[in-house]
Amino acid sequence: MNIYQEAAKKIIDSHYCVAFTGAGISVESGIPPFRGRDGLWNKYDPMTFEIDYFLQDTARSWEIIREIFYDLFGHVLPNTAHYALAEMEQRGLLKSVITQNIDNLHRDAGNIEVYEFHGSLKQITCLTCGQKVNVAQVDMAHLPPTCLTCGGLMKPDVVFFGEAIPEYAAFKSIDASQRADCMILIGTTGTVAPANTLPFQAKAGGTTIIEINPDPSEYTDQVTDIFIQENATRAMEHLMEAIDELV
Ligand code: APR
Repeated sequence: MNIYQEAAKKIIDSHYCVAFTGAGISVESGIPPFRGRDGLWNKYDPMTFEIDYFLQDTARSWEIIREIFYDLFGHVLPNTAHYALAEMEQRGLLKSVITQNIDNLHRDAGNIEVYEFHGSLKQITCLTCGQKVNVAQVDMAHLPPTCLTCGGLMKPDVVFFGEAIPEYAAFKSIDASQRADCMILIGTTGTVAPANTLPFQAKAGGTTIIEINPDPSEYTDQVTDIFIQENATRAMEHLMEAIDELV
């Protein structure tokens, strides 16, 4: 049995399979990772994504946010790895996707049960009255955007360093990690807390961990049972073929 057939059998035999994704799954959609070669943090100071910095120098922070996230992220499409996870959910092979990504590509690909642990760029929120607005309605030429209801400062609905994880996403992600008997990790270093604790929580409950990454991560020698050292699109294409052969 090759590694894809082994992984496919674990997924098919599982009762509660979930995916846990990081920036790597969106690299082949044209979004650079945060770390490593070509990582965004080589070009931009992560400090600009500290909530304190955002509140102190809002105008500058918004300029950088627009440059990275809205100018870049706004024009990318899901790739075959995103579509494969959506197909797995539709076929009842996958219960949900826990993602660290803020690019909305899992939803764009058709996944329904998506827990956005670090929020989403799709909405911005007023820090005064809590009003939420779809980013498509925001004039990005005039920054920082202010609330049309109360005039308050608007912030992207993403988790800045120093901010708490959104309650719903935290609850659903921990619940899914504890229920899972199979977890597919795709494209994450496993270095950012508290998201990086979820695969360990799953493992503690006896979950089979399948990892897809061209490079080893914090998980590979600690929790991973089946390591597919490959890019997300090629790995997921081969995995779907192996699943189709077995069902
Ligand atoms: N396919 C699969 N994995 C890939 C690919 C690819 N084509 N290209 C790179 N990778 C892997 C890298 O080997 C690395 O392990 O994706 C990972 C990207 O790592 P990071 O950029 O650190 O992304 P991630 O682990 O998701 O970071 C977590 O950090 O900055 C914060 O909030 C941000 O959600 C993000 C969090």
